[in-house]
Amino acid sequence: MTTDLAEHDIRTIGQLKINGPKAFEKMRVIGKLAAGALDMLTNKIVPGMTTDEIDRLVFEYALKHECLPAPLHYRGFRKSCCTSINHVVCHGIPSDRVLRDGDVVNVDVTLIKDGWHGDTNRMYFVGKVNRKAERLCEITYEAMMRGIAVARPGATLGDVGAAIQTFAEAERCSIVREFCGHGIGRVFHDVPNVLHYGQPGEGMALHEGMFFTVEPMVNFGKAAVKVLNDGWTAVTRDRSLSAQFEHTIGITADGPEIFTKSPAGFDHPPYA
Ligand code: MF3
Ligand code: CO
Ligand code: CO
Repeated sequence: MTTDLAEHDIRTIGQLKINGPKAFEKMRVIGKLAAGALDMLTNKIVPGMTTDEIDRLVFEYALKHECLPAPLHYRGFRKSCCTSINHVVCHGIPSDRVLRDGDVVNVDVTLIKDGWHGDTNRMYFVGKVNRKAERLCEITYEAMMRGIAVARPGATLGDVGAAIQTFAEAERCSIVREFCGHGIGRVFHDVPNVLHYGQPGEGMALHEGMFFTVEPMVNFGKAAVKVLNDGWTAVTRDRSLSAQFEHTIGITADGPEIFTKSPAGFDHPPYA
């Protein structure tokens, strides 16, 4: 095990993996590919299409780029990405559901290459969406970026959570508690849990070489969610609108490196 980790340029502090320069290079490659999948979808998400069609586009992109879609057969999940519409918070399952003008949809893509995972999601506007939905997406993107901005050696996970929570709540929105960001690398969902709320100075200290995701889910209404009978689809209990953005990042001596930045500059809508 130790040898296996060393071979991949990984040291450990207890359960925690501290990645070296070769591991960073692998994450740059897979992060760019995952972001490229979301870029590819940008002009393709239109009223009248189904979420299964999005799933197919992601599957085909993965094959074309010699990647595996991590969600496929992950804990019984049967699709290549998650598609979460309107009040769906996360883990929506692609289906024959038709996208309608005014919907907002999150597409969450995780690709694997050489065993390394890149995990990222964005919101998409279907046709013309109302100002309220646009604003929730802007707030959620900004919340994620504020969390990422404070992620550096010496800071703590509590600093990241607090930056996200403070911003979202100042905008009178709420942060979902049931789902969090996660360590990532050769494991899809690794330690630590990255909460999107918290207190400055609390939680685990960040070290150069850590890889994790930041993926806040922000609701217009109350924070409470429930999971539907399919075992996956999480929705807001009050059916209020929910948004999410996700990046995979690495901690460097100089601060955060975002592996899943959009090569096309399509990090957040409106993309036109
Ligand atoms: N990509 C999601 C995350 O951000 C996890 C999806 S698991 C799946 O962690 F099985 F639903 F795909
Ligand atoms: Co994730
Ligand atoms: Co994800």
